This record gives sequence, structure tokens and C-alpha cells, in this order.
Amino acid sequence: MSIIYTKKFEHLSEETKEASSNKMNLLEKHNYTPYLIDGSRSDIENISFNNENLILKVFTAKGKQDQDIEALLKLEDSSFYPTLYAYKKNHFLLMEKVNGISLEELLINKKIDLTQLKIIKEQYLLSVHEAASKYLDNVDKKLDQIFWDSSQKKLKVIDLGFFEQFFIQVQTLEDVIQESSSWFDEETSYYI
Ligand SMILES: Nc1ncnc2c1ncn2[C@@H]1O[C@H](COP(=O)(O)OP(=O)(O)O)[C@@H](O)[C@H]1O
Ligand SMILES: [Mg+2]
Repeated sequence: MSIIYTKKFEHLSEETKEASSNKMNLLEKHNYTPYLIDGSRSDIENISFNNENLILKVFTAKGKQDQDIEALLKLEDSSFYPTLYAYKKNHFLLMEKVNGISLEELLINKKIDLTQLKIIKEQYLLSVHEAASKYLDNVDKKLDQIFWDSSQKKLKVIDLGFFEQFFIQVQTLEDVIQESSSWFDEETSYYI
């Protein structure tokens, strides 16, 4: 298995392409797997050049089977998820670093009012709808995965490690959206 580069990778600047592919080639050559004492599923590295901000996510042994790559490939046309630039299955992925601050942090620091929260929820449910249209459901939802860029009024969802395939015979699209809506209301109610 080797490194796969998506079409979006070509559009990056030469500097970013070179720096990121050097890092990925090294990871591949040494088949490097990080080990993190806190039990994390991945090691995150920032790569930034020419206003291009990327994240290299390298899986630990624990995170190797996570579904990020498969989910990001299915959602490559959605604006609510990071752009995928390159990956090696069960090893690492290179993606867009999204703008904004996590909803968890915004709520803890009381930076969100009810009017804004309503707009965020609308976009969140759109993001859920786009994933559910590809039969993907996030079975490990967390407020720290929802990023809100207040200047652009744009939401993005990160960490697709637990975006799993669901079966329409068992769970409909409406079920998935309804569950996500209740989850959002309950989780945010503790702060507001
Ligand atoms: N695409 C991204 N854009 C911005 N920040 C990110 C992105 N991916 C990860 N991060 C940051 O790194 C942290 C850990 O990444 P995450 O994907 O949650 O790893 P894990 O699957 O190991 O939980 C996130 O909480 C976030 O702060
Ligand atoms: Mg996480």
C-alpha cells in the first residue's frame, strides 16, 4: 500500500507539496506508528506555508482502524468537512486545517448566544444530512468536533474516525438527523 494523492493536492503550492510529501514519505519508509502515553488515537502535526494550513494526522496503533479516510473520501464534495489531500490507509492522512474554534470551547467561554446557536445548529444538521445521504453516521459525537468560524459564519466538522456506515433497513436518514438534533440540544443545554 502506498501514499495516495487526491486531485486537490495538485492545487497546493510547491512548498506545501514538498514539505508535506517529504514528511509522508518518511512516515511510510519507516512505517512509523506514534505511541502516545495518554492513549490518543492519533498524533496531529500542523503544516503551514503561504497561508495554506494543513494537518497531518498519524494514527497510533489504537486509531489505525478509524474511519476518517473512508469518510472524507465519501464526503469530498461537502463543504462541511475538511478537504483530503493525501493518505495512506491505516497509517496517516493529510487534510485541510479548518478555521474557527470548537463549539465546546465557545460554549465554555460563553462566546455564543441563543441566536448564534440556532444558526450553528442549522448548519450542523445540514452537515449531518450530507453524511447521512452517503449512509454515514457519527457514532461518537462530541462538541469539540464542531468548529465554528464566526467571521465567515461557517461550520466544519472534524474527526471522522467514528463515521460509520448505517443500513437503511435498520435506520433511516430521518432517524439519523432526528438523533443528531436531540443530541445537539441536550449537549448544548448544559452551557446555555
Ligand atoms: N482538520 C482539522 N482542522 C483543525 N483542527 C484539527 C483538525 N483535525 C484535528 N484537529 C485538532 O486536533 C485535535 C485532535 O484531532 P482528532 O481528529 O480529534 O484526533 P482523534 O481522532 O485522535 O481524537 C482536535 O481536537 C483539533 O483540535
Ligand atoms: Mg477527537
